[in-house]
Amino acid sequence: MKIAILGGTGDQGFGLALRFSKNHEILIGSRKAEKAIEASENALKIISDKGYSADIKGMTNLEASKLADVVIVSLPFEYTISTIKELKEALKGKIVVSIGVPLATAIGDKPTRVIACPQGSVAELIQEMLPESKVVSGFQNICSKCLEDLDCEVACDVLIAGNDSDAKKVIVELASEIPGVRGIDAGKLEISKFIEQITPLLIQLNIKYKLKGAGIHITGLNL
Ligand SMILES: NC(=O)c1ccc[n+]([C@@H]2O[C@H](COP(=O)([O-])OP(=O)(O)OC[C@H]3O[C@@H](n4cnc5c(N)ncnc54)[C@H](OP(=O)(O)O)[C@@H]3O)[C@@H](O)[C@H]2O)c1
Repeated sequence: MKIAILGGTGDQGFGLALRFSKNHEILIGSRKAEKAIEASENALKIISDKGYSADIKGMTNLEASKLADVVIVSLPFEYTISTIKELKEALKGKIVVSIGVPLATAIGDKPTRVIACPQGSVAELIQEMLPESKVVSGFQNICSKCLEDLDCEVACDVLIAGNDSDAKKVIVELASEIPGVRGIDAGKLEISKFIEQITPLLIQLNIKYKLKGAGIHITGLNL
């Protein structure tokens, strides 16, 4: 698949780009093409140092959105609405993956708190803005520090929510390609609010126990 990552120059997007580049063509998106190209060169270097090759390119968020089959929105909550507004046309008909969390850092408050999202969750906000796209929610509970380090075993379940069953299946399978990750269909998009709100709890545990990236495992579920 061709996977675009909007804001793929940032921590979480870059980590996902590295992990998904093993099996897919990656388009790192940015507001500035030069910044995306630099990030793609960094990613290619990390991957070639590990002894394998990949197809990773850098470009603007708009170009990446036009070319991709799957578009991952990897932006701080406070810039999600303005960015998605500009890309609405390019995202029509595509699978759009919402990984955002409405952290209170958006208003200068703590990362262990969330702010209210009128639609219920970041994923539902994006779906409301993009009625002709298939929005799938996931990847909120894995940490960039571990994703970026290809030697780090992620060891986390990734809960996936969405209203389009086929799109959701694609993303469950994509998540499960990351070593140590089990993609789990958690239900309809409305469940995303609970998935997103696990993240501040994990951040709190990271701070308290000085962890690289606390994660979750759903027990009793044998898939
Ligand atoms: N970091 C984590 O461990 C983690 C874990 C779980 C979920 N998440 C979620 O993943 C998303 C991305 O997190 P992150 O830590 O990767 O964020 P980040 O590094 O702070 O930012 C990601 C990208 O957002 C773009 N950006 C910055 N200001 C912008 C603006 N005014 N308008 C448009 N784009 C702007 C930048 O790309 P350009 O400058 O290249 O445009 C930046 O590289 C967030 O929603 C977060 O809640 C993160």
